[in-house]
Amino acid sequence: MGVALLTQVSRRYFRHAIPLAVLSLLLLYLCARSFRVVSGCRSWAQSCNPEGPPPVQVRRQSGPLEAPKWKEPPCEGPQGVLGRVMEPFRASLNPEGDVALSQYLAGWRALVRFLTPLGSIFAFATDEASAKVTALEARVHGPEAAHYSSLAAMAAWERRAGLLERPGVAPRDPARSSGSRTLLLLHRALRWSQLCLHRVAAATPGGPDAGVQCGDAYRTALAPHHPWLVRQAARLAFLAFPGRGRWLGLACPGAGETEARAALARAAATLEAVYNRTQGLLAERGLLGLA
Ligand SMILES: *[C@@H]1O[C@H](CO)[C@@H](O)[C@H](O)[C@H]1NC(C)=O
Repeated sequence: MGVALLTQVSRRYFRHAIPLAVLSLLLLYLCARSFRVVSGCRSWAQSCNPEGPPPVQVRRQSGPLEAPKWKEPPCEGPQGVLGRVMEPFRASLNPEGDVALSQYLAGWRALVRFLTPLGSIFAFATDEASAKVTALEARVHGPEAAHYSSLAAMAAWERRAGLLERPGVAPRDPARSSGSRTLLLLHRALRWSQLCLHRVAAATPGGPDAGVQCGDAYRTALAPHHPWLVRQAARLAFLAFPGRGRWLGLACPGAGETEARAALARAAATLEAVYNRTQGLLAERGLLGLA
């Protein structure tokens, strides 16, 4: 039984993970090379690259006159990168203590949009997340939509309807996972994203770089649930991780370092609040053990 399960699981992963891992490594290599060429340095960038083209930075720093203060679109506003992530996630925390699924999924969509430009490093997480978001959206808008308004409603209905997997047993066809299991997988990935954002925001300059920190977060939140091959691909991916400067530049384009870090920290706190509530709801229903 155990062996059969193992073979089944490894067959599944070998089919998908090996080509994926090879492709990721290739992309990573290309990406790491192009980062080196393309990325210039921001004045506060951690990973300031000596080969990078500096003209913009030089012009900014050497201006003898105070540059006229131009109003930045705040990154936490409705049009800002982080604002678009935080707004739906906050809205998903409904007053009944439940998690509204359509808002939660909208938050995830925005989070994937934020993480995607960080490169192929995140592809293994974001591609997977996108597929799961799509699968859950299909339920939220599908014929049983009435049962998929919130986490509690979904879990209650899937239990009543006998749709829940047995704890610890992965479904034969992952594409037909219950909504609750799909949510659990997203929930773990949310933990990783949250820890990663938090650590990038909170790190002290000169401390361990973002790759090391997100690697630690990966080992805490996701690695225990991933097979060996995926863990190895992830481990390699973190070696080519974008530096803190790039993170902050993407999160709050044009903002100063302090401001960008504070905004990122608030975004991480929002994700944590969503994570905490989801964790509590899943735990109360004994759903954390779905494989
Ligand atoms: C989430 O839960 C942890 C542990 O219970 C707690 O320390 C933390 O303050 C909570 N965070 C938020 C944002 O609610």
